[in-house]
Amino acid sequence: MTHKVAPSILSADFLNLEADIEMINRSEADWIHCDVMDGTFVPNISFGFPVIKQIKKIARKPLDVHLMIVYPDKYIDVMKDAGAYMMTIHYEACLHLHRTVAAIHDAGMKAGVALNPHTPISLLEDIIHDIDMVLIMSVNPGFGGQRFIENSLRKINSLKEMISKRNLKTLIEVDGGVNVETGKKLVDAGADILVAGSAVFAESDPEDMIHRLKSLV
Ligand code: DX5
Ligand code: ZN
Repeated sequence: MTHKVAPSILSADFLNLEADIEMINRSEADWIHCDVMDGTFVPNISFGFPVIKQIKKIARKPLDVHLMIVYPDKYIDVMKDAGAYMMTIHYEACLHLHRTVAAIHDAGMKAGVALNPHTPISLLEDIIHDIDMVLIMSVNPGFGGQRFIENSLRKINSLKEMISKRNLKTLIEVDGGVNVETGKKLVDAGADILVAGSAVFAESDPEDMIHRLKSLV
């Protein structure tokens, strides 16, 4: 299976979001990555559920929602109503991760677990069987346009090993500082989904950049 590409709309034009969603619809992108930030879990505030609901009305690709918030378990039903396909919560934000993952599944969504750059893969040993995706943060979450942390490649290698040893189908998504150069290394290391914000939206032809990211082998 070839890797997926999920443009992050954090770097889109908020004055003309519809045009950017239509661009993603036309493109080879697989998912639309939506970053929700609360100003507490991360030092930034982005957008929330009303915006995601509007996006859902015109999106022709699944919504991949990355919640950088404390207490994500409070918003599972809201997230479902907003139309999320994948609900990704942070390991660091969940006291009862197993319960939260089960509740996401009960609501009918896929469950992803994100790890901050300092959080080791080994902490997933007892939850990896229950989740659909692991999101490796390759920058400290909160902002677009940051530099890729090289150690993320090592984390992908260990995660890949953990997943294949157990014969699981858990997907590996990488988010932060992804461009054609880092993207190539990530795909080689075993990433299944590349999230890219500034690399896509800073281009004069974002659709072509999505094509280039999708063509990495
Ligand atoms: C950062 C967000 C990312 C962000 C990535 O906290 O989770 O999804 O949009 O931006 P780039 O691709 O510019 O690093
Ligand atoms: Zn993200």
